[in-house]
Amino acid sequence: MKNILVTGGAGFIGGNFIHYLLQNRSDCRVVCFDALTYAGNLETLGEVLDNPRLRFVHGDITDRGAVYRLFEEEGFDAVVNFAAESHVDRSIDTPEIFLKTNILGTQVLLDACNKFQTKRYHQVSTDEVYGDLPLDRPDLFFTEETPLHTSSPYSASKASADLLVMAYYRTYSTPVTISRCSNNYGPYHFPEKLIPLMILNALEDKPLPVYGDGKNVRDWLYVEDHCRAIELILEKGRVGEIYNVGGHNEKQNIEVVKTILKALGKGEELITFVRDRPGHDRRYAIDPAKIHRELGWLPRTSFDDGIQKTMDWYLKNRAWWEHIRSGDYQNYYEKQYGMRL
Ligand code: NAD
Ligand code: TYD
Repeated sequence: MKNILVTGGAGFIGGNFIHYLLQNRSDCRVVCFDALTYAGNLETLGEVLDNPRLRFVHGDITDRGAVYRLFEEEGFDAVVNFAAESHVDRSIDTPEIFLKTNILGTQVLLDACNKFQTKRYHQVSTDEVYGDLPLDRPDLFFTEETPLHTSSPYSASKASADLLVMAYYRTYSTPVTISRCSNNYGPYHFPEKLIPLMILNALEDKPLPVYGDGKNVRDWLYVEDHCRAIELILEKGRVGEIYNVGGHNEKQNIEVVKTILKALGKGEELITFVRDRPGHDRRYAIDPAKIHRELGWLPRTSFDDGIQKTMDWYLKNRAWWEHIRSGDYQNYYEKQYGMRL
C-alpha cells in the first residue's frame, strides 16, 4: 500500500484528489497536510475524515520542522503538492504570502524529499506560468516548451516554484514531475472563483460581476479529469518531465456565465460588467498532446456534462457553501478535532 502525502488537500483540487484516491485506489493510504487558510475547508473532506486510510494533519508547508517531523514519522512513497495561495485577484492585493507559500513552501517540501529519500515529488502547477495567448490566434496553444511568461504575482510564484523543482531535479536528482493544468471546475470549488461565484450569485439573484468585456478565454477541465491525470503521472510519468493537462474546452467568460444563467432559469439582466482585473490574461489554451501520447490520458467529461454536474452539486450541497459564505466553516476544525487533540 502506497503512503501518499497530499498537501493542500482541504482545498478544491487537493480535496477532490483525496476523494478520488480513496474511491479508486484501495492500495493507497493518504496523509493530508493543510494549513486551513481561508481556502481550506475540512468540510470538503467531511465524509472521509473517519476513513482509516486517511490521516489529516494541520500544518503549514513553510514550517520546516513540522514538515520534517511528518516525513520522518510517515516515510512517504510520494508527495503531491497542491498547497498554494491560488487566487489571482488576491495575489494582486497581497503578493507576499504567495511568494512565501508557493515558492518557499515548495522548497521545504523538496528538501524534505531529499532528506528522507522520497521516491516521487509531484508539483501541481498551472497553465498560467505560460502567460497568455492573443484572442486572434486560435491556432496557438501552450506546449511544455512554451517559454514561461507570467502576468500576475500568482503565476510568477507558480513559475518560480516550477523552476525550483526542475533545479532540484538537475542539481540533486530529486525524482520530480510537474503537471501544468488549465482552469478546473467541479465540486468543492471555493466560491470566490468564476464558476462557483456565478452559480451562487445566480441562485441568490445577485449581480454576476464579469470583468472587462467578458471575452477572456479559459480552457475548462472537469476536476476529476485532472485528478486522473495526476494519478497517471505518478504511476507512469517520466521523472524530470513536465506534462500539460487540458481538455480543448475553450470558452469566453461571458459564454460560461450565460450557460449558467440559462441552466438555472435566470435572466441575463443579472450580468454586470465591472472594472477589469489589472494585467488580465486574455486567453489560455493547453496542448495536451504529450500526456495523451505518453500516458494515454484524455479528458472524459465534456463541458456540457461537467457544468451540469457542477450546478447539481452546488444545488444539493447548500450547507457546504452556506457555511463558507457565513464563515462557519472556519470553526469546523475546532468542532471536528478540538476534543481529540
Ligand atoms: P485552493 O485555494 O482551493 O486550495 C489551496 C489549499 O492549500 C487550501 O486547502 C489551503 O488551506 C492550503 N494551503 C494554503 N497555504 C498553505 C500552506 N502554507 N501550507 C499548507 N497548506 C496550505 O486551490 P486549488 O484551486 O485547489 O489549487 C490547488 C493547486 O492547483 C494550486 O497549486 C494551484 O496553483 C493549482 N492549480 C489550480 C487550478 C484551478 O483551476 N483551480 C488550475 C491549475 C493548477
Ligand atoms: P478565476 O476563477 O479567478 O481563474 P483565473 O483567473 O485563475 O483563470 O477567473 C476565471 C476568469 O473569470 C478570469 O478571466 C477572470 C474572470 N472573472 C470574472 O469575470 N469575474 C469574477 O468575479 C471572477 C472571480 C473572475
